Amino acid sequence: MTKESLWSVDSPTIPGESEAVELASRVLASMSIEQKIAQMIQAELAAIEPQEAIEYQIGSILNGGGSFPKSKRDPKASWLELADRFASSEAGFIPILWGTDAVHGHNNLFGSPLYPHNIGLGASRNFELIAQIAHATALEVLSTGIDWTFAPTLAVPRDLRWGRTYEGFSEDPGLVKQFARAMFKGLQGLPNQGDFLSEGRILATAKHFVGEGCTFEGIDQGDSRCSESDLVSIHAQGHLAALESGAQVVMAAFNSWNGEKIHGSKYLLTDVLKGHLNFQGFIVSDWDGFTQLDEDLGRACELSVNAGVDMLMVSGDWRAVHAHLTDSHRHGRVTTQRIDDAVFRILRVKALNGMWWRGLPSTRAKLLAHIEKTNREKDNLARTAVRESLVLLKNEGCLPLDPRMNILVAGEFADSIPDQCGGWSLTWQGTENSNEDFPSGQSIYEGFAEQCRVAGGRAFLTEHLEDTSKIDAILYVFGETPYAEGDGDLQHISYQHINPKAINELRELRKFQVPVVGMLVTGRPLWINPELNATDAFVVAWLPGTQGGAVAEVILTFADGTVQHDFRGKLPQSWPKYPTQYILNCGDLGYDPLFPLGFGLTYANKAIETVTFNETDPTPMHPKRERSAAVATAGYNRHST
Ligand code: BGC
Repeated sequence: MTKESLWSVDSPTIPGESEAVELASRVLASMSIEQKIAQMIQAELAAIEPQEAIEYQIGSILNGGGSFPKSKRDPKASWLELADRFASSEAGFIPILWGTDAVHGHNNLFGSPLYPHNIGLGASRNFELIAQIAHATALEVLSTGIDWTFAPTLAVPRDLRWGRTYEGFSEDPGLVKQFARAMFKGLQGLPNQGDFLSEGRILATAKHFVGEGCTFEGIDQGDSRCSESDLVSIHAQGHLAALESGAQVVMAAFNSWNGEKIHGSKYLLTDVLKGHLNFQGFIVSDWDGFTQLDEDLGRACELSVNAGVDMLMVSGDWRAVHAHLTDSHRHGRVTTQRIDDAVFRILRVKALNGMWWRGLPSTRAKLLAHIEKTNREKDNLARTAVRESLVLLKNEGCLPLDPRMNILVAGEFADSIPDQCGGWSLTWQGTENSNEDFPSGQSIYEGFAEQCRVAGGRAFLTEHLEDTSKIDAILYVFGETPYAEGDGDLQHISYQHINPKAINELRELRKFQVPVVGMLVTGRPLWINPELNATDAFVVAWLPGTQGGAVAEVILTFADGTVQHDFRGKLPQSWPKYPTQYILNCGDLGYDPLFPLGFGLTYANKAIETVTFNETDPTPMHPKRERSAAVATAGYNRHST
């Protein structure tokens, strides 16, 4: 098979293409080399002042995870005010693109609804709902004056030890393909449907290109060891669908492919993506990703730009990057032709996004007010997604529960919105947050308390337990505490290695001799056989986001005993039978999961059986992996709040 036929897509016709090309060519012709190089830089908010960005003609700014205009609880007005300061009405000014990680809602914005992380959306398999969530997110991002999100993540996670598993949709490339289409439809609008980058839409990013879901031992930013045909048929599927849906920005992946860093791979970035796949948009680096190519910053920038990266995402000293690239150009190590190509691509995308005539960010936000969703509508969308993402693994007959009962909602995760939200939630790691940081949110316990109260029953937390004879059922909520990226890498996937306390607490609860329902809040399947055995029913909630309380609408019946909502979620990743099954993917030779991809019980289809799972875990107790020196020095000094 030739490379062309291995890598191929049906490129869509992009509305407004010829006007954008004409404008980009005209602007490019008027620029100095210094201005062109500045267009190729994306600077972090904390490292640049609006005036400097305007003077240099910086191409783009970003707020990384946990970076805000002033502080974590900034209102929308602060975002808009800052966005306006990065705009200018001077003649010749090239509009600055602001990018943000709106990866499960506008997750850096205080008070914004956070939807389930992608793995939960993967369980829902409801692509229309996903497109609606993406559109609601686009509107929310625009309401803060921002035009671009670094989403969706199109990884195909194939090793459960990987800390970014929850950012992926499924181990199944076919599902990731459908997910990519739905996300691009909602965020950008589709090229052939008359709504492409129209009012209320933002630029999306196909990230991270490519192969990040199969790094050796699941190490984040590690080496993906696979054949080119697996790279295409498994890991690139979401990207191909994104290109067919009109993707204009692709983010290079941190990982290597068979030993070569993607940020420096001319083959994958230029020959494949821009060549065989005819990608006309621009490639942005990941956060300082190019610095991993060489210890010398100038050399690193050069290698990456020459490989095909068009815009460098710089966390700190962007002036140094500017100076180095200018020097590389002066000495002929980066050609004018390469710079012109990169800048033309960036200007073309800005033109497609109408950035020269969109007006001040705050004015535009006001004009969009008529299509903005109300807070209630947004929360309802989030609640639907939570309900549809729940996966029922086991039900020996106790579910659904009657809301007129007395229900003890126990476990450390019962009343914790930050734990429900996981990483990329206000802060990068999702840590250092409290329930008060999510004002419109509802914890799992609060959902039960509200529903039981209305029906005439009562739900209470362990600290409110007064009379132990008054417990009719127990919901025990436990899981993984928040993490993002490599901080979530595991060496073993046995839950007892993560939290040895939960199994003891669960067994302790048996003494009440009432049904015990287990609920796992998690970014990935984990080996939980002992915990499963200690419960009468078991539900996986993934990372449901701010409306975790919606789980009560599935677990509880109406007061008259009829089901409110049945389970709809199906496993987006295979569930391990043994603690060593971290690489467990449908279609593998000898595939032997505890629950296969697509598994999920419902009330309608009652399969009530009592099974006991093997509880022996021979793996040594080392859940966390130390980050490699290369990764640890890769500029990961995000702001804390
Ligand atoms: C992540 C990207 C993200 C970027 C900007 C990186 O560390 O890998 O997914 O878009 O940071 O916050």
